[in-house]
Amino acid sequence: MGFRMYDLIEKKRDGGVLTGPEIKWMTEEYTAGRIPDYQMSAMTMAIFFRGLNKEETLNLTMAMTTSGDTVDLSGIDGIKVDKHSTGGVGDKTSIALAPLVASVGVKVAKMSGRGLGHTGGTIDKLESFPGFNTSISMDAFLKQVNDIGIAIMGQTKDLVPADKKLYALRDVTATVDQLSLIASSIMSKKLASGADAIVLDVKCGSGAFMKDFASAKALALEMTELGRGAGRKVTAFISDMDEPLGLAVGNALEVKEAIDTLRGKGPEDFSELVMQLASAMVCFAGKAGSEEEARELLDRSIKEGRAIDKLKEFVKAQGGDERAVDDMSLLPAAKYECEVEADTDGFVSGIECAEVGNASLLLGGGRLTKEDEIDLSTGIIMKKKKGMSVKAGETLAVMYYNSEEKMEAAKARLKAAFKISGSKPEKNDIILGRI
Ligand code: URA
Repeated sequence: MGFRMYDLIEKKRDGGVLTGPEIKWMTEEYTAGRIPDYQMSAMTMAIFFRGLNKEETLNLTMAMTTSGDTVDLSGIDGIKVDKHSTGGVGDKTSIALAPLVASVGVKVAKMSGRGLGHTGGTIDKLESFPGFNTSISMDAFLKQVNDIGIAIMGQTKDLVPADKKLYALRDVTATVDQLSLIASSIMSKKLASGADAIVLDVKCGSGAFMKDFASAKALALEMTELGRGAGRKVTAFISDMDEPLGLAVGNALEVKEAIDTLRGKGPEDFSELVMQLASAMVCFAGKAGSEEEARELLDRSIKEGRAIDKLKEFVKAQGGDERAVDDMSLLPAAKYECEVEADTDGFVSGIECAEVGNASLLLGGGRLTKEDEIDLSTGIIMKKKKGMSVKAGETLAVMYYNSEEKMEAAKARLKAAFKISGSKPEKNDIILGRI
C-alpha cells in the first residue's frame, strides 16, 4: 500500500495515531532508502513531542524486527533465554552470566554488540581472550550451542537494519531520548535474535540512560509489554547504576572480575546481580521450579567448579586461549598504574558514575566513533565505593594506562567523580525493582 510520508509526518505532528500499515510502510521504505533522512528526522521529532501509544510502539517494534534477517533458533532443543542490559559503567554481566547459566543446562545463543561509550561491549570484552573469534558463521554459532550449550557472536549486519539507520539518525537529531523509540529499538533486536524468553536488566542512576527510578520503571514496563505482545516471556529487573557495577571498569579488567565471580570471589553487588538475573533465566528455561531452587543450582555450579569450566569450554570453542581463565597474566595488561587518592577524611557519599566511565574512555578503553580502536588493557579498579569510610591520602581508585598524557586527562575527572562528606550515606540495593 502506498502512503505519502508528508501526510504521516503531518498526522503525527498534529497528535494523530499512525496505523499498523502506515508504520510498516514507513519502516520498510526508510530501510530501503526510499524515504530521505530529512523526512524521517521530522517524523522522529514529531514522535519525540507527541509520543507513540502502545499499539503504535508494538507496530513499530514488529516492523523493525522483520526489516532484515531474523535468527531461527528452532534447531536448538529447549527454551532459549536471552538477556539484555540497557548498559552502564562496569557492566560485564554477560561474561559471567552466560557461562553460569549454561553450566546448569540453559541454552545460551547470544548476539551482542560492540557499543559506543565508556568501555566496549560484550563482544570487545570477550576479545580480551587471545584468539577469541566473535564473527563466527550462523551455522557454527548454532552448532556450538547444540554441542556445548553456549555461543556468543557479534550482531550480524543484516539484523534489524531499520534500527541501524534509525538509531544513527536519532543520534544526530537529538531524538534518542524517547521512551517508545528506545524500547522499540532494544526489543526489535532482541526479538529478531530469536529467543523464547528474555530477561531485561534496566539500569537506573547517574551512569545509565535512565537517571531516576520512575523513568527506568517506565522503560522496563514498556519493554516487557512489547516482548509479551510479541509472544515472548519477559521479566525486567531495575538495577542500580548510581555507581559503577562491581569494582572493575575497562575491558580486560572487567573480564578478570567476571572470572573471579565465576569462582565465587566476585564483588558483592556484581555477584548478587548475576545470581538474580541467572535465577530468572534458569526458571524461564524450565531448569528449576522457583528462583530459590535456581539459585541453589547456580551456587552449587560455582562451588563445584562447573561454572568456570563452562567458561573455559566456551572460550576454547570460539578459538580463544582458555588458559587465560586460570592464568590471567595472559589477558591484555596495561604498562603502568597510578593511584588516585582522597584529599580529606570522610565517607564516600556518592560517585558520579558517568564520570568514572568518561575517565575510562579517556584512558583508551572506549570508543566515541565506530571506527575508534579500543585499548582492551586500560581501565580503573575502584578501591572505594559508596558508603565506605576514607582517610586523606587513602586510595580511591587505581588507573591502568599506557599513555601518560591520557592518564593525566583522566585523573582529574576520576578524582572529581568521588564525593566525600562527613556523614555515612544510605547505600542503594543493587536490585531496585522487578517487573
Ligand atoms: N540502546 C538501543 O539499542 N537503542 C536505543 O534507542 C537506546 C539504547
